[in-house]
Amino acid sequence: MSNKKIIGIIPGDGIGRDVTRAARIVLDTIVDRFEDVDLEFRNMEVGEVAVERYGKAFPDETREGIPDCDAVLFGAIGAPHDFVVLSGIRYGFHLYANVRPVKALKGVPVLHPNADLVVIRENTEGLYRGVGYDDGDRHVNLRIFTDEGMERIIRFSFEWAQKNGRKKVTFTHKESILRHTDALMKDLFYDIAPEYPSIEADDMEIDACAMRVVMKPGTLDVIIAENANGDILSDVGGGIIGGLGFTPSANIGKDLAMFEPVHGSAPKYADKDVVNPTATLMATRMMFEFLERTDIASRLQSSIEAVLVEGKVRTYDIGGDSSTSDFARAVAAGLDIT
Ligand code: IPM
Ligand code: MN
Repeated sequence: MSNKKIIGIIPGDGIGRDVTRAARIVLDTIVDRFEDVDLEFRNMEVGEVAVERYGKAFPDETREGIPDCDAVLFGAIGAPHDFVVLSGIRYGFHLYANVRPVKALKGVPVLHPNADLVVIRENTEGLYRGVGYDDGDRHVNLRIFTDEGMERIIRFSFEWAQKNGRKKVTFTHKESILRHTDALMKDLFYDIAPEYPSIEADDMEIDACAMRVVMKPGTLDVIIAENANGDILSDVGGGIIGGLGFTPSANIGKDLAMFEPVHGSAPKYADKDVVNPTATLMATRMMFEFLERTDIASRLQSSIEAVLVEGKVRTYDIGGDSSTSDFARAVAAGLDIT
């Protein structure tokens, strides 16, 4: 990464501002600390601030600025702008794979210390495509799968598993009922699986898988889930590792990637500098992995983990009273220890 990388920063609504400010504390330290890192930050607006300035939650200025970025860091967005903004980015830029790691960290009160799974949520199709209609007394939302969409998320998941040293990919479904989508996709999954002989392939019904996440997460590895199922399953995952303060995500497409915490905008806590920025800092770590700076990524992850283990700087969600920026500063300080 000797050449300059352009990083788009989109705070969004509510606590999105708090967590991206925390990320900037860490990013600025990384720029200072690593001589060969050259990052240019470009702030872009969506949500309420964009409505005030441009009259639109997802303005053209932001839409047109995004493709110039090498990666985008996103804070959070809530109702009523969440669908227009997230679909504008995720669907608009074909970010078809939403990688959502669920890993228990030491120093955090969790239900399962051995949880270390990854939900790969299909991010552009399925029920959340938002296509539907009303026909008299019938009200319909369509659950859309395309041949291209099914194949690319299956291949992405096996390849991601391979690249990240994972052992198993589990395809989730409700094949007995959803014959036109899940059953078809399950067949495709098992057609493709032999191309990745080092990875075990299995499948589970989505409801059973949700219970498995809660009861025996250690038996799960990489999970492929339809868009809506993946949304739900990743929050279930958050619930076993201390909450959504600890769940980052990467939205990956062919030409662009956007990194964000799984949580929403939590307006109640907005601008109070109290929320836990760990998920956003881990999303930042995933961004450095994507930019092929695994050295920085692992340094950042180690620093986050060290601060949590030490336990002196803790946000309210895990029983402390430190601020969002205190936590970010502690993580930034940890980066300096060589
Ligand atoms: C998420 C969120 C969004 C989604 C909402 C805010 C539209 O819940 O990223 O998980 O459902 O995708
Ligand atoms: Mn969600």
